[in-house]
Amino acid sequence: MSTAIADKAAIEEAARLLEQGELVAFPTETVYGLGADAENPAAVARIYAAKGRPSNHPVIVHLARDADIEYWAEEISADARKLIDAFWPGPLTLILKRAARIPAAVSGGQGTIGLRCPAHPVAQALLQAFKQGKGGIAAPSANRFGHVSPTTAAHVRDEFGAGPHSPVSRILEGGQSEVGIESTILDLSRAARGPVLLRPGGIDAGRIAAVLGVMPAASDAAAPRASGTLNAHYAPRTPLASVTSQEMAETLRKLAAAGKRVALMHYTPLPGRDALAGAIQESIALPSGPDGYAHDLYAALRTLDAARADLILVEAPPGDAAWQGINDRLRRAAFDSSGVLEAMFGR
Ligand code: TXA
Ligand code: MG
Repeated sequence: MSTAIADKAAIEEAARLLEQGELVAFPTETVYGLGADAENPAAVARIYAAKGRPSNHPVIVHLARDADIEYWAEEISADARKLIDAFWPGPLTLILKRAARIPAAVSGGQGTIGLRCPAHPVAQALLQAFKQGKGGIAAPSANRFGHVSPTTAAHVRDEFGAGPHSPVSRILEGGQSEVGIESTILDLSRAARGPVLLRPGGIDAGRIAAVLGVMPAASDAAAPRASGTLNAHYAPRTPLASVTSQEMAETLRKLAAAGKRVALMHYTPLPGRDALAGAIQESIALPSGPDGYAHDLYAALRTLDAARADLILVEAPPGDAAWQGINDRLRRAAFDSSGVLEAMFGR
């Protein structure tokens, strides 16, 4: 299978398919997206059907670099302007009030709209080719609902297939996504509340605070719904648990004693690794810095999931701000597996 980056002809063809209401998967710098014409409700409905996602979950609308933001959003506050100037194109999604002309289907019926200008050159070329650069491409991550997001075109093929029966008409190749976890989502739609962080991601809260002069508030009950904020999300099929670096050796010893097969994800060298090999079926050492770790995280989770071990065991990363997006994704990936370690030891 070819892994050459999509060329101009492939991108033009994909733009025509989008204009005809078809689904096209494309690379972004965060993760791959499953795209449809944001102004075509029937096309947007096909995204929901393909993903198996509830139709009241809003999707992000992707815009070209020089797009007319006022076409999409009813009002663009001074804060929104500052953030757009500072971080677009890039991994920041802004939730604004939706303009009346934009179909409610992209917002899951809410009065808001999520806008993002992706930095990946293939995404930008696609946005320029689609409706002469004036369209918006609605795109959630190109995975089935609740699964780990794709960071390569091959991951998208694993999720949806590529043949005539796939709901996805084209998958554009763009190499491995640079950032590796989804965009930061910031709600600016409630002026009285101030900026609210709905999902930590590619741009950490400290960088937003440096531009706005205030730290974004944590999400609250009245915040707009965001599926990336569901507890069980980004989840592999294998149960997943994380333990601190200090707990790792003892945990592996107990798992080996219980006859369990472990797929291990760590970022510091494991002391006494050889003695513990009995429990370790597969292991991946991730980079020890947050950028490198995020870049490799989802591909590692997919590889470890495919090992069909009894458990994916994660060495818990540091807790500081630069790791917030990563820790958020790991917490959600582990949500359905709470208590799994105790259950494995308790026999
Ligand atoms: O990095 C990303 O954001 C990737 C790439 C493809 O751009 N997209 C992505 O989409 O992660 P998705 O659908 O998997 O997650 C988008 C999140 C969801 O949690 C959704 O609920 C939220 O954005 N969202 C979109 N529009 C919204 C709105 N109007 N109000 C509140 N949340 C919104
Ligand atoms: Mg997603």
